[in-house]
Amino acid sequence: MKVLVIGNGAREHALCRSLSLDPGVTALHCAPGNAGIAEVAELHQVDALDGTAVSALAAELGADLVVVGPEAPLVAGVADAVREAGIPVFGPSREAAELEGSKAFAKEVMAGAGVPTARSYVCTTPAEVDEALDAFGAPYVVKDDGLAAGKGVVVTGDIEAAAAHANACERVVIEEYLDGPEVSLFAVTDGTTVIPLQPAQDFKRALDGDEGPNTGGMGAYSPLPWADPKLVDEVMQTVLQPTVDEMRRRGTPFSGLLYAGLAITSRGVRVIEFNARFGDPETQVVLARLKTPLAGVLLAAANGTLEDLAPLRWSDDAAVTVVVASHNYPATPRTGDPITGLAEVAAQDAPHAYVLHAGTKRAGDAVVSAGGRVLSVTATGENLTEARDRAYQAVSRIHLDGSQYRTDIAAKAADA
Ligand code: AMP
Ligand code: GLY
Repeated sequence: MKVLVIGNGAREHALCRSLSLDPGVTALHCAPGNAGIAEVAELHQVDALDGTAVSALAAELGADLVVVGPEAPLVAGVADAVREAGIPVFGPSREAAELEGSKAFAKEVMAGAGVPTARSYVCTTPAEVDEALDAFGAPYVVKDDGLAAGKGVVVTGDIEAAAAHANACERVVIEEYLDGPEVSLFAVTDGTTVIPLQPAQDFKRALDGDEGPNTGGMGAYSPLPWADPKLVDEVMQTVLQPTVDEMRRRGTPFSGLLYAGLAITSRGVRVIEFNARFGDPETQVVLARLKTPLAGVLLAAANGTLEDLAPLRWSDDAAVTVVVASHNYPATPRTGDPITGLAEVAAQDAPHAYVLHAGTKRAGDAVVSAGGRVLSVTATGENLTEARDRAYQAVSRIHLDGSQYRTDIAAKAADA
C-alpha cells in the first residue's frame, strides 16, 4: 500500500514512524513534512490547505491512502477533495470536521446526542458575555468559537481577563467550569463502527505543576494507571458512539479520528472538547503502544470496513512523551537555532526512546528549530517510571538554545 500523510508536526512524524514499520506499506510519502519525517518518508512540497493540490499529488504518487493529520486542512475540506478524486482518505469531511472547527456546533451535536458536557452559552455581544460570566461565576471558562491551535481557551478567576478575552473573539462559548483530571480518548471510526484506542493524558500548560499559559500540549503518557478500567467502555457508550450516530443522523457522517477531550468530574465524565484528528502529543504515546499495523486500520476507516477489522492489539508497555519547545513558546517562538544531540539519542537510547520532530528543518548539515513545539521525545518502558526515565535521559542529550520543557510529565501517575 502506498500512503501519503499530510502535515508537518510530531503527530505526523509518529504516524509516519508507525506506517514505516508496517510491512503492508510499500511506499511512504509526506507533505510537507519536516527534517525528522524525511528520514522515514519521501517529502513533497504542497500547500496542505489546498485540496486540489493535495489530491493531484496523491494521484500522481498513486497513493492508495491519504492520511490528513492536522485540523486546518480538514476544516478547509481537503479530505473531501481527495475523496472526490476517488482516493481513500483517513479524515473527516469539511462539514464533519466542524465538530472541532466550531465549539458551538460541537455543543449542538452533543445536545442532540445526549452527550454529557459543560453547560454553556454562545455569546456575540458584550452584554451576553457579562450575563454568561455572571450566570456561571468563577472560575470562568471562555472559548473562542473557531480554531485556535489549542490557544483560544482562557480559564481564569479574573472576571476582567475573562471578559477581555471574550470580547476579543467574534463568537465565544462561555461555559461551566469542570473540575477533575483530564483524559484524551481517541476513536477510529468509519462513520458507523467506532473503535476506541487507549486513553492518554496530555499536559496543556506550559510550566511544571500545570502553571503558565495553555499550549498545544507539552507532554503525554499512556496508560493511565489511576483511571477506572471501565472508563473506555463508559466513554464509548455515553460519548463516542452516540456522537458518531448523531453525525450520521444529521447527514454529515464523521469518519477518521474522533478525539474526545474529557474531564473526569465528581459527577461523572464530561466532554471538554472534540477534535477531528489525532491529538498531539497524545498520538506519540498511543501509537507507541499499538501493535496492530496502522495502515490497515486507517484504510478500513477510510473504506467503511471497520466492522470487519480484528480487535486492535496493544503492548503492555507504558509510553511517555516530552515536548521540547522553543524559547518564548506559546508566544511567538524564536526559530532558526541549531539542535544538537539527535544522533546521540539515536545511537544510545533507541529503540526505547526516540525523537519525533515537529518544528524542525534542515539548514545545510544542521537541523534547526522552525516552530514553537520543536520536537517530542517519546520513550517506552515496562512502567511509567521506566518510560519517563528513558524519555528524560534522551531529552538531556538534546541541546537547543533557550528551549524549554516540562520536567513533571507523568510524574504523579508514575508515583501513584
Ligand atoms: P480546549 O481547547 O477546549 O481543550 O481547552 C483547553 C484546556 O482548557 C482544556 O484542556 C482544559 O484544561 C481547559 N478547559 C476547557 N474547558 C474547560 C472547562 N469547562 N472547565 C475547566 N477547564 C476547561
Ligand atoms: N493535545 C491536544 C490537541 O491535540 O489538541
